[in-house]
Amino acid sequence: MNILDNIMKIIVPRDKIAEKVKELGQRISRDYADKELVVIGVLKGGFIFLADLAREVTIPVIIDFMAVSSYCHSKNTSGVVKIIKDTDISIEGRHVLIVEDIIDSGLTLNNLKELLHTRGPLSVKICTMLDKPSRRKVYVEVNYKGFEIPDEFVVGYGLDYSDKYRNLPDVVVLSPDK
Ligand code: IMP
Ligand code: MG
Repeated sequence: MNILDNIMKIIVPRDKIAEKVKELGQRISRDYADKELVVIGVLKGGFIFLADLAREVTIPVIIDFMAVSSYCHSKNTSGVVKIIKDTDISIEGRHVLIVEDIIDSGLTLNNLKELLHTRGPLSVKICTMLDKPSRRKVYVEVNYKGFEIPDEFVVGYGLDYSDKYRNLPDVVVLSPDK
C-alpha cells in the first residue's frame, strides 16, 4: 500500500514549502547575523522543517532539540509543559529560536517559551511552519511563520496522525476513512 493513496487534498504543496523555507532561512540569517543563535527543534513534528530550514540558514548556528507534551487544565487555558527531552546545551546568554511544526491552541509554545525564559537567554523567538490562528486559546507571538491554514487536521512534512504520515513531502488532509 502507498501512503499517497490516503490523501484527500493537498493543503501546502512541497514546492511552496521549499520556497517559503528558503525565504525564512534568509530572514533568520539576516536578523541573527553576528549573534549567537541556538535553534531548538521541537520533536517530533519539527524535525523535517528544521532539517530543511537549517540548510537555508547561512550563519553559524547551534542546533538542539526538545521533546515536550502539553497538558491543558480543563477549566482554564493555562497549561503545563512536560519535558520529555531537554536541550543538551545551555541557552544562557544566547539567542534562542524555537522551530515548531504547527501552532494550534498555542499552549505548547506559550509554555515552552515561558520555561526557556527562566534559563537566562538573551531572547526567545518562535518560528513555525504552520499556524491555525482560528484555534488559538492563548496569545503567542509568532516571529517567523510559513503558512496560515484553516481549522483542519493536517499531516505530512513532519506532522503525524497516530505517529504515521510524517514522511509525506506535502502538507495534506487525509481521507475521512483513514
Ligand atoms: P498546541 O499546543 O495546541 O498549539 O499544539 C501544537 C501541537 O499539536 C503541534 O506541535 C502538533 O504536534 C499538534 N497538532 C496540532 N494541530 C495538528 C494537526 O493538524 N496535525 C497534526 N498535529 C497537530
Ligand atoms: Mg509538535
